[in-house]
Amino acid sequence: VACGNEKKIEKIYVGTNAEFAPFEYLEDGKTVGFDMDLMAEISKEIGVEMEIKDMAFDGLLPALQAKKVDMIIAGMTATEERKKAVNFSETYYKANQVIITAEDAEDIPDFEGLKGKKVGVILGFTGDVVVSEIDGVEVKKYNAGYAAIMDLKEGKIDAVVLDGEPAKNFVKNNEGIKITSAEGEKEEYAMAVSKDNKELLEKVDSALITLKENGTYDKLLKKWF
Ligand code: ARG
Repeated sequence: VACGNEKKIEKIYVGTNAEFAPFEYLEDGKTVGFDMDLMAEISKEIGVEMEIKDMAFDGLLPALQAKKVDMIIAGMTATEERKKAVNFSETYYKANQVIITAEDAEDIPDFEGLKGKKVGVILGFTGDVVVSEIDGVEVKKYNAGYAAIMDLKEGKIDAVVLDGEPAKNFVKNNEGIKITSAEGEKEEYAMAVSKDNKELLEKVDSALITLKENGTYDKLLKKWF
């Protein structure tokens, strides 16, 4: 665990929630995805070893604050609320929330159109926050995306609100569902570091700049999106 000013960082523990393809997911028991590749490049750049710790999404910030991990990479949106508790790196990906419905359902052109509907969200995700703020929506909270998608396919709920890329991934791998034309507000994904670890944050940010300049970042974008 990184600590102290003089001491060299040798190994960092990185928290994620590997239920968010293509950013992070499990394949043959290994965490893979865009974030995992990016994090591997960043730690190479900084010159430290890294170990991924997979946990529930809503356990990530508490784990960081309890110093069980040194940082988080999890397609996590840098929200004002979260900035009160942790520091975020520079943005590494821009995303937005989308609405998934049954393929034969009428289009929902905006988020207000969710009024009067049963809508699945994932506990603690920004989609949960966005939907919970709309009056008149019957919100159903799930622990993982695939559980919400299963209920949608069985007609138990009318829609699921999720980040764009994981939503596309579900639509690609499941029959009978589609993404509507509604476009949520822009969100910026960033890595989180605890407030008292400015040193690591600076290293991560400068590594990110290097990877953007030397083409590594673009190569990863091409590989995963
Ligand atoms: N971007 C959304 C958020 O920050 C969802 C992130 C979910 N990430 C994950 N690895 N499960 O809340």
